[in-house]
Amino acid sequence: MAVLQDAPLQTLFLPFTQGQLRWPDGPVLFLRARDGWPLREHADAGQLVCEQSFRPFAQALEHSGWQVRDEATIEADAARYPLVMVLPPRQRDEARALFARALALAAPGGVVVACQSNNEGARSGEADLRQLTGLGGTLTKHHCRVYWTVPVNAGHDAELQARWTRLDAPRPILDGRFASRPGIFAWDRIDPASALLVEQLPADLSGHGADLGAGFGYLSAEILRHCPKVGALDLYEAEARALALAQRNLDALGSPATLNYHWHDVTAGIEASFDFIVSNPPFHTPSRADRPDIGQRFIAVAARALRPGGLLLLVANRHLPYEQILNDSFGQVRVVAERDGFKVIAATRSTRGTRA
Ligand SMILES: C[S@@+](CC[C@H](N)C(=O)[O-])C[C@H]1O[C@@H](n2cnc3c(N)ncnc32)[C@H](O)[C@@H]1O
Repeated sequence: MAVLQDAPLQTLFLPFTQGQLRWPDGPVLFLRARDGWPLREHADAGQLVCEQSFRPFAQALEHSGWQVRDEATIEADAARYPLVMVLPPRQRDEARALFARALALAAPGGVVVACQSNNEGARSGEADLRQLTGLGGTLTKHHCRVYWTVPVNAGHDAELQARWTRLDAPRPILDGRFASRPGIFAWDRIDPASALLVEQLPADLSGHGADLGAGFGYLSAEILRHCPKVGALDLYEAEARALALAQRNLDALGSPATLNYHWHDVTAGIEASFDFIVSNPPFHTPSRADRPDIGQRFIAVAARALRPGGLLLLVANRHLPYEQILNDSFGQVRVVAERDGFKVIAATRSTRGTRA
């Protein structure tokens, strides 16, 4: 049996292919949109407005010719949509806030349709949308659940909608040290692997550095705090919601270092020549599928983006298979710390100019 590439996306369209819902003639909004065949089967390029904050997914949509707009642009536009489709995230507060927004963006009489896989919160997502608006129907297939609202009118619980809208608002965490919001990586705490890496930061780190997969900016903030010789830092992050927080958190430090922020898919490569790079690379996709190849790609990209003699400081789960790519890409590789199942690796690029 063929493995479905994106089961929630396929299942999202089921009520339209089976006839429970009619595909509208008017504009369609797709929140947390992902590209795939079902879009082409139902929509044309002028009809669909997609929102996607994760750069690789946004780029895939753009490459297929779909319009991708950011949240601010969609909110600034007065458009209301007869159909709002949602692929909710698994973090429940973030998903609830997204349902509240989807409802606000639906036209009178419009429908909100959502789909999740069973192991990514489908039951709670369905219960939440039912509580907010009442449900028009549910279908299950491909280990996923697609559920949709009754036609939206003024009859829903507006107070609940207002409360859920605020659930994923940015807020201070860790006694105000950082601003963060639900749904981004380790959103309300310091990740222990990143904390281990910070313990290994050399105080004499200097020059122009980069943070690959910067999250809300924890590693970069610690570099700016502890390494006064660092003159410039580039943050690369694929999730726009995290990058915006990183910018807010780092700008608040008032560091004299030059800071650059890139909404960027690191696996696509980066053009630069850095003195050092730090990274706690992702080891799964946003849907939590294990993907050690992403971390391996981060390592290869870091090797190419370092000047000869440049330093990569990387933290990873001890079991992740990074040794080969590290040894192939760097002149010297050392494990400088190990704790609680994590390892910090210091890898120095060969001065002989070997490139991965
Ligand atoms: C393990 S987290 C580390 C976050 C932060 N540096 C920290 O230490 O707390 C990895 C980060 O990489 C980001 N990410 C995932 N895939 C990416 C990609 N292809 N390109 C750039 N960043 C990516 C994730 O959004 C996440 O913020």
